[in-house]
Amino acid sequence: MGKVDLRVGLGPLKLKNPILTMSGTFGFGQEYGRYYDLAILGGVIVKAMTAEPRLGNPPPRIAETPSGILNAIGLQNPGVDAAIAEELPLLQDLRRRGTVVIGNVSGYSFAEYTLVTDKLSQSGLVDAVELNISCPNVKGGGLAFGTHPDTVYKVVSAVREVCEVPLIVKLSPNVTDIAEIARRAVEAGADILSLINTITGLAIDAKTRRPILSNVTGGLSGPAVKPVALRMVHEVAQAVNTPILGIGGATTGIDAVEFLLAGASAVGVGTANLMDPLAAVKIVQGLEQFLLDQKIASAAELIGGLII
Ligand SMILES: Cc1cc2nc3c(=O)[nH]c(=O)nc-3n(C[C@H](O)[C@H](O)[C@H](O)COP(=O)(O)O)c2cc1C
Repeated sequence: MGKVDLRVGLGPLKLKNPILTMSGTFGFGQEYGRYYDLAILGGVIVKAMTAEPRLGNPPPRIAETPSGILNAIGLQNPGVDAAIAEELPLLQDLRRRGTVVIGNVSGYSFAEYTLVTDKLSQSGLVDAVELNISCPNVKGGGLAFGTHPDTVYKVVSAVREVCEVPLIVKLSPNVTDIAEIARRAVEAGADILSLINTITGLAIDAKTRRPILSNVTGGLSGPAVKPVALRMVHEVAQAVNTPILGIGGATTGIDAVEFLLAGASAVGVGTANLMDPLAAVKIVQGLEQFLLDQKIASAAELIGGLII
């Protein structure tokens, strides 16, 4: 180990390796910090923050599906002020040790997106802001902003004006033409695109004839979505020159390699954290082992390397 170079650039962000843990599957990092030193990671993206504290949807909020889960958490979070006062300060040692910390922002209005982004940007506690305009689990929030190209342009433009740190825009897979959405997000000032968020689905209890989730529908994630995520990362990489954080179903180092080849500069680990708290570490190690086995000197060499 240690003979390969895992460092990558994700736009303006310099990462010690391409593996980041994803919003909503890693809390504010503290629970996972009991299992391993989080400084092993390239970065951590914390749970979505809104202007006010939110309890999220009533249970049941998670349903297991073959090779994945459906979730409808509904943006449960302590609110941006409490996160800035109590949660994000605990992650500053990580930043000093070279692991980036990214705030995930959600909202129910343009004003809420800009307010939360402004507070995070001014806090000095995050290296970047990820704009979650792709959450399928709240009525009137998230997804409503991420599925129409003009609305994407408007919300990203508004946030861009107040965001003084690098801006990541997280795209929804629940659209017909993801390349068009990506182009508009970039025109409006996105520094980095992240994709995919979850795919809207429905789980039914055959005996009760009712939906399993209280929200009726939820977002599908985990290994089941990886082929869709790879296809969309590839499409977006063809459409824009903006760096991509590829997300969706990664559970192994080889999965991370596939995302890099498809055109991602870094790879997100979400649901895998819920299956195995050490998943992200194992993915870093698996990626390193792949590079050693294949005699590839650096992870950066893989980016966009797909041969067609
Ligand atoms: C339980 C759960 C909660 C999530 N919460 C958020 C969130 O707050 N903000 C966000 O942008 N994405 C959220 N996501 C989406 C993930 O960050 C990720 O984009 C998606 O799950 C696909 O990656 P995966 O298959 O590796 O999980 C959540 C996903 C899960 C499973």
